[in-house]
Amino acid sequence: MSNALFAGVDVGSLSTDVVLIDSAGATRAEVVFPTGINGAEAAQKAYDLALEQGGISRDQIKAVIATGYGRAAVAFASGKTTEISCHGVGAHHLFPDTGTVIDIGGQDSKVIQVDGRGRMLDFSMNDKCAAGTGRFLEVMAAQLEMNLNELSDPRHVSGESVQISSTCTVFAESEVISLLAKHTPREQIINGLQRSIVNRIWSMVISIGIQGEITITGGVAKNKGLVTVLEEKLGMHLNVPDNPQTVGALGAAHIAQRGFKDE
Ligand SMILES: Nc1ncnc2c1ncn2[C@@H]1O[C@H](COP(=O)(O)OP(=O)(O)OP(=O)(O)O)[C@@H](O)[C@H]1O
Ligand SMILES: [Mg+2]
Repeated sequence: MSNALFAGVDVGSLSTDVVLIDSAGATRAEVVFPTGINGAEAAQKAYDLALEQGGISRDQIKAVIATGYGRAAVAFASGKTTEISCHGVGAHHLFPDTGTVIDIGGQDSKVIQVDGRGRMLDFSMNDKCAAGTGRFLEVMAAQLEMNLNELSDPRHVSGESVQISSTCTVFAESEVISLLAKHTPREQIINGLQRSIVNRIWSMVISIGIQGEITITGGVAKNKGLVTVLEEKLGMHLNVPDNPQTVGALGAAHIAQRGFKDE
């Protein structure tokens, strides 16, 4: 059993993430790879990179759980499960007192309540529109001619803010264009955009409630400005993983390990 290793593969709309763990639960490799247009190919490449990174041979991996929007494309998976379950388990592994998980990825956002083992109790999800997701921020960064790191600077959320009134990405983008035409300072626009995402998340938080510590997962957790505004709104500290994009894959690897029976 000691040589057994387990894999989690999360094929998201933007990133395909792989985590390999050993039987003691320690992470042995971690990869974030762009999904692109072919999820099956991205999964295979990210998996190969993870094996290479960990100096691990394929036959050491005893179980592979695939998750994420593109999980059906992972031909080498031994099982598949939902992202909601995986983010819960992954967040619990990193922060054991997690009671609530906020996952903001590229194309959807979710608030998940978990029990003391990271198992999902209830959730609320926005997968109907891009507003309130990472994609919204990418569209706005392009309009502002900034990269995501610049947009995420927490200094932009400390001063004045304009109100972005449109709840739809396309209309909000037009609003940004006209604010820029009126020479509105970029920081005020960014502040307004971050607050508009936080308001979308807030309505999910209200519908589901908060319990225990809150852990934020998904690539948008790298957006320090957004985390700052969300902490202010919640009046609570958020646990932010070092590598928030791989939390779903980490959870999947732990589910693979739990389900594995050594002969
Ligand atoms: N360095 C960064 N700074 C700020 N934000 C970032 C950074 N890197 C990624 N992001 C955000 O993370 C988002 C992608 O998150 P993630 O990789 O978790 O998505 P995904 O899992 O592929 O999507 P989904 O789960 O919705 O299918 C991007 O849209 C972007 O907004
Ligand atoms: Mg995801």
